[in-house]
Amino acid sequence: MSIDTIDRIRDEVINCRLCSLCKNRTNAVPGEGNFKASIMFVGEAPGRNEDEKGRPFVGLAGKILDETLAKVGIVRSRIFVTNIVKCRPPQNRVPTEDERRVCCKYLDRELSIISPRIICVLGRTAFQSLIGVGNILANRGKLIEKDRKLFFITIHPAAIIYNNKLRCTLEKDMQTLVSECKRLNIPI
Ligand code: URA
Repeated sequence: MSIDTIDRIRDEVINCRLCSLCKNRTNAVPGEGNFKASIMFVGEAPGRNEDEKGRPFVGLAGKILDETLAKVGIVRSRIFVTNIVKCRPPQNRVPTEDERRVCCKYLDRELSIISPRIICVLGRTAFQSLIGVGNILANRGKLIEKDRKLFFITIHPAAIIYNNKLRCTLEKDMQTLVSECKRLNIPI
């Protein structure tokens, strides 16, 4: 069996026709970043800007993510950023369970190759897809171990577009993530 690589996943994602989201996309959006990242950030699905550019978190939610990371001293080029679903759902609707199930195979492969020490779960869709049980609000700001993987739960940066008061929540959680990395000797 040949060795899987991030480049191979990228090629497959770009040409993927496994679900109907491929019909309306401009570009599929594979994960990107540092292949040796100790933290992988996982969002929901690309939005309009990401669909146009073929890159994750490059629109307004991405700007908020970048600002928050910078504030707590996480350098974006040192992490890996990806989504549960790699193509933009029409009108940015929440991806269906079928779309998530089919597309999560790419995420599983990204996870196996990068093997991050912590998977940072951004928002409800990623929480439901990766953790499955429980309530995101009861778990945000916390580390959860599941299937021998370590997840850190926080809100989606896009939530701040609709409610600016949540900016403090995201910043506080990211500070906690940095503290947990220090406590666990995880380089960031
Ligand atoms: N929202 C997401 O969940 N992912 C992106 O890449 C952009 C916005």
